Amino acid sequence: MAERTKIGAADRGRLHTSLLAWYRVHRRDLPWRRTRDPYAIWVSEAMLQQTRVETVLAYYGRFLARFPTLVELAVAPEGDVLALWSGLGYYRRARSLQAAARAIVERHGGVFPRDPAAVRALPGIGPYTAGAVLSIAFDAREPLVDGNVARVLARWTALDGEPATIARELWELAAALLPERGAGDWNQALMELGATVCTPRLPRCDACPVTALCRARRLGLEAELPRPRPRPVTLAVEALVVLVERRGRWLVVRRGADEGRMAGMLEFPTVELAGADGGRTGLFPAALEDGGRPLLETGAEVGELRHTITRHRIRARVALGRALFTGRRAEFVWASAAELGRLELTGMAKKVLARGLLAMPPR
Ligand code: ADE
Repeated sequence: MAERTKIGAADRGRLHTSLLAWYRVHRRDLPWRRTRDPYAIWVSEAMLQQTRVETVLAYYGRFLARFPTLVELAVAPEGDVLALWSGLGYYRRARSLQAAARAIVERHGGVFPRDPAAVRALPGIGPYTAGAVLSIAFDAREPLVDGNVARVLARWTALDGEPATIARELWELAAALLPERGAGDWNQALMELGATVCTPRLPRCDACPVTALCRARRLGLEAELPRPRPRPVTLAVEALVVLVERRGRWLVVRRGADEGRMAGMLEFPTVELAGADGGRTGLFPAALEDGGRPLLETGAEVGELRHTITRHRIRARVALGRALFTGRRAEFVWASAAELGRLELTGMAKKVLARGLLAMPPR
């Protein structure tokens, strides 16, 4: 291991004792901590990526109630899976969860594998998820590094450098620190410390069980480290959402199977208006015309909506509209307001419902 992250045997022992004792007392009682079922743990880890615990709690139970086993998830229609994920965002997670469940049915008879190489070979399962499920469900000595763990380890060792540069050292360190037994508790204790005490901006060092062993703290660098990722460029997007009603049903459009992270989900017809630089992001690819003839016409506005999708900051005007076509079109779905609530809507479409925009009088 690199010299700068070395932790001596005595300090390693003290880190184990202090952090694990703290974890036994302070661990949050979370539903995925009451099970050793690798499938249920895997679902929680997929949901918890990029998403806060409080948000996940609302989705986790419902998802497992509908798909209590890996096999039930594997055989479910994708739309059902996306519907239960609707609002959590990053829908690729849901799709890869199901793709990997199907691979486990094919390759391992529907039983989540214990072999790390077999887990890592599954589609869409990265090193973090593999480490989390193997260590938490089977107590396998597998490391993991997520944002919380990276911060804790970088502070313990006063590791300086951009996230991308120090990533390898952090994984080596996480592996070197694994205790002989209880890797699952250890990994979760690291995550818990990062989530509740060793927080990004104002770490609560006075409540930390291992503050005496923290090099960043000793150097007064705890608020400085780890260095932030260089900011990604955000893109402002202007859009127009069209609400079309016909005989009590609203028009939503299904995104194509290859249309980005929200592929296959339903959204209200949306056109992206040219940005200041005239460019388009292709965020809303639905064709709202046919051979140059518009399929919709727009009328009075009923409101405005802001929504962020990864690095796109969308400002959408919402207007009523009218369909200029009759008959069926494959990607167009007509649904009552009650039905919409049960369909696999994009986060932005859910916002339209939540804001009551369907019932809003024209401005
Ligand atoms: N974040 C993701 N998985 C977690 C877990 N098992 N415990 C605490 N925080 C987490």
